[in-house]
Amino acid sequence: MAQEDIFKKLTAHCKEYGYVFPSSEIYDGLSAIYDYGQHGVELKNNIRKYWWDSMVLLHENIVGIDSAIFMHPAIWKASGHVDAFNDPLIDNRDSKKRYRADILIEEHMAGIDGKIDREIGKAARRFGEAFDEKQYRETNKRVLSYQEKLDGISARYSKAMNDNNLQELRQIILDSEIVCPVSGTRNWTEVRQFNLMFSTETGSTAEGANKIYLRPETAQGIFVNFLNVQKTGRMKLPFGIAQVGKAFRNEIVARQFIFRMREFEQMEMQFFVKPGTELEWFEYWKEARIRWFRALGFGDDNYRFHDHTKLAHYANAATDIEYKFPFGFREVEGIHSRTDFDLRQHQQYSGKRMQYFDPEKGESYIPCVVETSIGLDRMFLHIISASYNEEELKKDDGSSDMRVVMKLPAFLAPVKLAVMPLVRKDGLPEIAEKIIQNLKFSFNCQYDDKDSIGRRYRRQDAIGTPYCITIDHQTREDETLTIRYRDSMIQERVAVSQLPEIIGEKVSFEGPLRKIQDE
Ligand code: GAP
Repeated sequence: MAQEDIFKKLTAHCKEYGYVFPSSEIYDGLSAIYDYGQHGVELKNNIRKYWWDSMVLLHENIVGIDSAIFMHPAIWKASGHVDAFNDPLIDNRDSKKRYRADILIEEHMAGIDGKIDREIGKAARRFGEAFDEKQYRETNKRVLSYQEKLDGISARYSKAMNDNNLQELRQIILDSEIVCPVSGTRNWTEVRQFNLMFSTETGSTAEGANKIYLRPETAQGIFVNFLNVQKTGRMKLPFGIAQVGKAFRNEIVARQFIFRMREFEQMEMQFFVKPGTELEWFEYWKEARIRWFRALGFGDDNYRFHDHTKLAHYANAATDIEYKFPFGFREVEGIHSRTDFDLRQHQQYSGKRMQYFDPEKGESYIPCVVETSIGLDRMFLHIISASYNEEELKKDDGSSDMRVVMKLPAFLAPVKLAVMPLVRKDGLPEIAEKIIQNLKFSFNCQYDDKDSIGRRYRRQDAIGTPYCITIDHQTREDETLTIRYRDSMIQERVAVSQLPEIIGEKVSFEGPLRKIQDE
């Protein structure tokens, strides 16, 4: 399915079932800005908790903070964002549309890669068991020619990005005959740099207004509070500071639903370590973080590391954790060994010592930092797209039916339990209400008495509710009811008193958290 179609389907589903709405929709929306609805906010809170607990609960030496969005403008000078947090942009003169030059080239390369995959897929079907992919890649003329083209563009592109060579980026676009998706022409302007930070002003003009930025990452709030936390918490190296909060970037490519937004949330953790040990800790966090993803149960092969060969000047190791979205592997989290760059910069710009006194060594030094940084909204998109299923259900009469089911991990699901009286009379709604009154302290329950039971099940499947219970006339007699499991659709008769145990075990955060803690 084409990327646009997948986004269309997910966007429509998220809107229909109260997950994500376009922001300011009645005014035709605001590009790359979204609101979370009644179910979206619950799922987001649960993802946030899963991350927070994996950091702060599971590690005695990690604590959290919540720093302000506005910070002293000098921070962004020190961090390098004022001078270098740029995207290379190019305009098409005919459509008047603006694009990121790097993304145009990357999408073009992904297109060639896709052609290779299709050739290989066709050959695999043709040759069946006997197919040797490696040999085919090395000998098939068409695949070789695509690969040569891809390698050529990739080498030029890496060099141009490394050298910050904007003219060469434009030349690659021209040489690769990349056309504007809207006008279909190659009438491109020059490429120029565009800073991604939003700015506003503090104070009135009379007082002399000051330019101030909306933070483009949460990490700097951690760096500048490093000593406050270390001293007040009497923290010893190695230790970490975790934070979840909003970040803002004036992204130009904005047609990928919540993959790339202008206002989004990050979950970042800076781990402060003795210089010289940072690469060991980098490996530690790579493994710890991939375990966090894998514990969700979406399949280990759907994640991969993408180690950076080109490192930013402040990093001595970097990798991305990528998830296989329906539109290909994409970054969800970045892990960087940032050396002592950020603290050293802040020491220089603020004139304050950003050093740790090491009681064992009896000396002070600037610690190194290993950062884990994941987008909460991007993680949300990962969970939604991994959970979304369209299933064909065969009926007894031979016909078939479709169900859309969100197979969310039960502990993340916004609604844990739907409580359904079979009919709206005979005291059944009252029993349902009583059950909710008992369980609501532990689980998010939803009362549902509209439509047939079948339609109610479909509705809850589409929301991703792992358990539905139906109260019928027998419930009045013997205090039993029918529980129906979302994924298997199996129904069984259980006692009302068993519910906390049956549901509690699966929706608890403890299971996944136990899976990821250090071996
Ligand atoms: N402090 C490091 C940092 O901010 P980054 O790679 O720019 O690194 C980290 O961002 C993560 O934040 C990304 O892996 C992604 O999940 C998320 N992210 C970045 N820009 C985003 C955007 N415009 N919309 C949604 N998520 C974004």
